[in-house]
Amino acid sequence: MNAKRPLLPRSAAPGCGVFLMILLAMPAHAAPARPLTPVEAVGKRIFFDAGLSRNRNQSCATCHAPAAGFAGPHTAINAGGAVYEGSVPGRFGNRRPQSAAYATPSPVFHSRVEEGEKLYVGGNFWDGRATGERLGSPAAEQAQGPFLNPVEQGLPDAACVVQRVCAADYGADFRALHPQSCEIAFPKGLDEACANGRPVKLAPAVRRQVQATYDHIALAIAAFEHSPEVNAYSSRFDAVQAGRASFTAQEAQGLELYKGKGKCADCHPVDKGPGGEPPLFTDNTFDNLGVPRNPANPWYRQAKLNPSGTKWVDEGLGAFLRGRKDLRRDAAGNAGKQRVPTLRNVDLRPDASFVKAYMHNGWFKSLKSVVHFYNTRDTKPRCPGALAEAEALARGCWPAPETAANLNREELGDLKLTAAEEDAIVAFMRTLSDGYVPGP
Ligand code: HEC
Ligand code: HEC
Repeated sequence: MNAKRPLLPRSAAPGCGVFLMILLAMPAHAAPARPLTPVEAVGKRIFFDAGLSRNRNQSCATCHAPAAGFAGPHTAINAGGAVYEGSVPGRFGNRRPQSAAYATPSPVFHSRVEEGEKLYVGGNFWDGRATGERLGSPAAEQAQGPFLNPVEQGLPDAACVVQRVCAADYGADFRALHPQSCEIAFPKGLDEACANGRPVKLAPAVRRQVQATYDHIALAIAAFEHSPEVNAYSSRFDAVQAGRASFTAQEAQGLELYKGKGKCADCHPVDKGPGGEPPLFTDNTFDNLGVPRNPANPWYRQAKLNPSGTKWVDEGLGAFLRGRKDLRRDAAGNAGKQRVPTLRNVDLRPDASFVKAYMHNGWFKSLKSVVHFYNTRDTKPRCPGALAEAEALARGCWPAPETAANLNREELGDLKLTAAEEDAIVAFMRTLSDGYVPGP
């Protein structure tokens, strides 16, 4: 929504919690990376601990691997449904894992009115539902979801996570940060209930202790996610900004198009923040681009969890707002909108043949096709029915949007870019991968 973009920089956004303020005050773009602080180091151990899942087979990194830009690490999955299986075999969620990097600077979910229109900003997840309203950090609230999500790490209760963290080999490091946190009288048989996914009953006082420790766990994960190991700001783009590298002619042209004719920077800003913060390539607002549905999404076949079957539609922000009594009146006007993702590491992959999936449902399989879609969404003919990306490209058509309502028609659809201009924008996005090492 062009003129409706927030004018305030993220860091000045109202509603940021104290925690986030402290995080933002840290020198996040420090390079070379410093050693992790104790809390970040514990957060890292938790992030990579597969023991914190129902079958002790899945960690956060299973779906957010550093080598894939903290997104999905399996090329075959990315090439198809793009949704990852949970700890319990056969259970799948409904969206593509987005980058867990550069999620921490997103402000607490809030709205503001610009030019008479209400605009939602911030939170974590594609739909912003990890609002950060409780802990002051969307990323910390996000981190409390996967452990207990039946289609992800699948543990039945926060007590399971707390007990396993306290018993882990890094448990002592965690207790050193929060001395009382593991002094909890866990009920008998907790282990078994956790392994079998059975509900856990706790006395109210124990429940309160568990919740407090679960909050510490979540904040440690968020601290790791905010550390220079995850939000590294070490791409060639950053090196160019610092005068330590330069763009090729094609990349420089791509940047100009990105800011100008391509309108990309309207939603994925490329300029520094007012305090000199490096750009995140997202303004954390929400939009419906008209991304086609991904017919290979395994969620359509999750009969028990998804009673709507193939009729299920991902309404993104709209669906989240509908579930909130205080915000329900805005649901219809935001159906189909997803949060603008960061473009940092968008091309980071373990090797050139590795396929990455893009957008909330992973329908797109290449940056070239993403740019081609922005360029020609409204000029190519409509495909008959839902198709995979490769077939649509071969036939020279685009399938119908997953959600037709609230489509953005002002900033995309008919950009009149040439093929060479599309390639230049792709070349520019390839400079956003962290881990750039200057040549001799
Ligand atoms: C089974 C795969 C899977 C596992 C395991 C998993 N995630 Fe995710 N993650 C996802 C998916 C899918 C989304 C997007 C979900 C949505 O929007 O509804 C996501 C979203 C996120 C985001 C939001 C990023 C943003 O910009 O809003 C963060 C951060 C994140 N995950 C971190 C974690 C952490 C921390 C863990 C471990 C506690 C974890 N994930 C475990 C699949 C997974
Ligand atoms: C109107 C706001 C807007 C504009 C303009 C815009 N984007 Fe986006 N972009 C989004 C949103 C919202 C998504 C996620 C949509 C979804 O998943 O349904 C997205 C997703 C992406 C993705 C996928 C990233 C990922 O991790 O899945 C890429 C790549 C991308 N945009 C690049 C661009 C480029 C290049 C341009 C300019 C040609 C551009 N965008 C213009 C809002 C915008």
